[in-house]
Amino acid sequence: MTPPFRRILVTGGAGYVGSALVPALLRDGARVRSLDLGLYGREALAAVRGRPELEEVRGDLRDEGLVRRALEDCDAVIHLACISNDPSFELDPALGKSINRDAFEPLARLAREAGVKRFIYASSSSVYGVSGAPEVAEDHPLAPMTDYSRCKAQCEPILLALRAPSFVPVVLRPATVCGYAPRLRLDLVVNLLTAHAWFNRRVKIFGGAQMRPNIHVADMVDAYRLMLALPDADVAGEIFNVGDENRTVAELAELARGVVARLAPERGPVALEVVPTDDQRSYKISSAKILRKLGFKTRRTIAQAVESLVAAFQAGKVTDLDDPLYHNIRVMQAAKLS
Ligand SMILES: NC(=O)c1ccc[n+]([C@@H]2O[C@H](COP(=O)([O-])OP(=O)(O)OC[C@H]3O[C@@H](n4cnc5c(N)ncnc54)[C@H](O)[C@@H]3O)[C@@H](O)[C@H]2O)c1
Repeated sequence: MTPPFRRILVTGGAGYVGSALVPALLRDGARVRSLDLGLYGREALAAVRGRPELEEVRGDLRDEGLVRRALEDCDAVIHLACISNDPSFELDPALGKSINRDAFEPLARLAREAGVKRFIYASSSSVYGVSGAPEVAEDHPLAPMTDYSRCKAQCEPILLALRAPSFVPVVLRPATVCGYAPRLRLDLVVNLLTAHAWFNRRVKIFGGAQMRPNIHVADMVDAYRLMLALPDADVAGEIFNVGDENRTVAELAELARGVVARLAPERGPVALEVVPTDDQRSYKISSAKILRKLGFKTRRTIAQAVESLVAAFQAGKVTDLDDPLYHNIRVMQAAKLS
């Protein structure tokens, strides 16, 4: 599906999701500009570098002059860039707030002024906090439990308030993403469990009954592509949860363990260690609205995400589980950003 837009600005195009999304948009025939600080290096987009339809801008989205230039001739934005997990945010809350919240409104306003027609914002399903409700749908009250999630939640109304006939904002609240992408994160639950099963032959979980919603990175990419492809009326001002089925941490650990044992029996059995914990915080989301309203359904399973990781490990694409590059907190500790 070729998106009906002239050029798409992807902020955070060199991040985990961006490294899968940008090549997919190029395959769709789109012209893409990636704006990224390059916190996790430049390898993410190496496979598509040099393509005439791709422009890579390295820089900080807090630089309004740079943002203005990056928006030139763009009519769609997918905003992924941020300090993208709790521990990295908590390392320097003022820095996290400056990127994740303070820079958000100028970016959205400048986009509208520059003639951007569609603005897709990567929020997070963590905005709901912990809920005992059987269905955590989009109208569930928001109760973010961390500054990272609070900033995600605070940006949503800022964006939606800018809605105009010529400016169509849409918010996605993704589950935790999993599976292989060129810029890999191993600090996300399924990826981490799989990496431990592969490299250490041991998976350790705390408790296990807690629910965790996940989504295959290729399905996440498809969700963003769909947000570009649909007519204004389907998405304008809307908020959508995007996730696969909710699973317990124990189920995810069994899955990772089972897939690794099946695909690499020569490496021997994978042990499971369960450590008791008082932390029973459980998260789940309902993705019924995006199915009902837009017909979007995930097409890959979490087991397939695990398989994609194992294939990458087998191919030698990842040799060291402890490489800081795969763990946002370690890169942020070393980055000395201000
Ligand atoms: N990965 C998940 O499980 C998940 C789940 C829900 C929501 N999200 C959201 O999806 C988006 C993408 O997540 P990801 O996993 O790809 O994150 P990531 O950390 O891999 O990528 C974020 C990118 O943003 C860039 N960046 C950070 N600060 C910047 C700045 N000031 N200027 C320019 N670029 C900057 C980084 O260099 C990095 O490449 C994020 O907004 C995240 O909050 C992700």
